[in-house]
Amino acid sequence: MSLSVSQTSKRKKQHIELCLTDRVSFRSKSNGFDRYDFIHNAITEVDISKISLRTKFLSKDIDYPFLISCMTGGTKEAENINKRLAVVACDLNIPIGVGSQRQALESKKYHNSYKVIRKIAKSVPVLGNIGAAQIVQSKDLQDILSLIEMLEADAFVVHLNPLQELLQKEGEPNFVGLLNKIEKLVIKSKVPIIIKEVGSGISKEVALKLLNVGVSGIDVAGAGGTSWAGVEIVRNNNNGNIFWDWGLPTSYCLKEIYPLKKKYKFTLIGSGGINSANDLTVAFSLGSDIVASARIILQTLLNDNEKAVKQLIINWFDYLKKVMFLTGSKTINDLKKNKIIKRKELY
Ligand SMILES: Cc1cc2nc3c(=O)[nH]c(=O)nc-3n(C[C@H](O)[C@H](O)[C@H](O)COP(=O)(O)O)c2cc1C
Repeated sequence: MSLSVSQTSKRKKQHIELCLTDRVSFRSKSNGFDRYDFIHNAITEVDISKISLRTKFLSKDIDYPFLISCMTGGTKEAENINKRLAVVACDLNIPIGVGSQRQALESKKYHNSYKVIRKIAKSVPVLGNIGAAQIVQSKDLQDILSLIEMLEADAFVVHLNPLQELLQKEGEPNFVGLLNKIEKLVIKSKVPIIIKEVGSGISKEVALKLLNVGVSGIDVAGAGGTSWAGVEIVRNNNNGNIFWDWGLPTSYCLKEIYPLKKKYKFTLIGSGGINSANDLTVAFSLGSDIVASARIILQTLLNDNEKAVKQLIINWFDYLKKVMFLTGSKTINDLKKNKIIKRKELY
């Protein structure tokens, strides 16, 4: 047990270190947002000063539809990072996810590294997190449910990471029975279950299966940002990079999954390579209810500070408002109504 505890913590530490550089970005595949342009509306009558970004997420009012994606927990360093991220979430009144709580299943040593988020960000939506492999391995899901209690989480996120499990030296690429386990978790959990990828994206077919077993949210976490194949390849000093750019671009996933909202009630989270104001804005126009980022937030926090992270998010949403004005969109929902065009159609 203690060996696996230290192994999990060591791996988490390496992940953070590698994610502080751009070495682990996708190389030849983008999130696809660069292929779109906004349709300029020369007779816009939107009053930019009246645009409100406040919305409800997990039954709570939030000031920006932005989620600090699930990243860390389970190491000494993680406690400090989560503390600082929680300050940002609290000050901006935005939701925040914790990193995989797998380490918390192994030992109590670093429970505070997760709990610190709820302690600081008392009133914002907080999302728990675990990997698909742990769900599959859980006998009756009681251990998983205890993770929700531990955090007083408003929702619980299961991350699907088959590519990462496949490439990780200590990975567990066995997801047999996963969908059935997710269905059981949905039934047993008192809080909504959200499913996310970690950078390879979720297809329409997979989204449909997940919605049919009752999940409340889908975070596409598509390709174009952090390559988790890249992270594991670098960690293993492995030169093979055949899977480095594997996955469905974030823009494609959103375009495919958004129409499912006509039939199913769920929250669509746009993430995977949201690294600029334009990425964020296109992600909304392709149907996201909430947009989320991971690595750029961590980099800005650790290379700069909390103030810089807050300013980054505020600047992104200032840009979004300007685009809403220029496209004649009074609300984010208006922005989803044919306000973008593929660049190739412009020439
Ligand atoms: C340092 C780091 C650790 C991460 N750990 C987790 C995790 O424990 N659970 C999870 O669901 N996703 C995890 N992710 C994946 C992110 O939540 C996100 O889905 C992915 O990095 C793609 O987003 P990005 O391009 O904005 O980084 C992690 C990301 C980073 C940068």
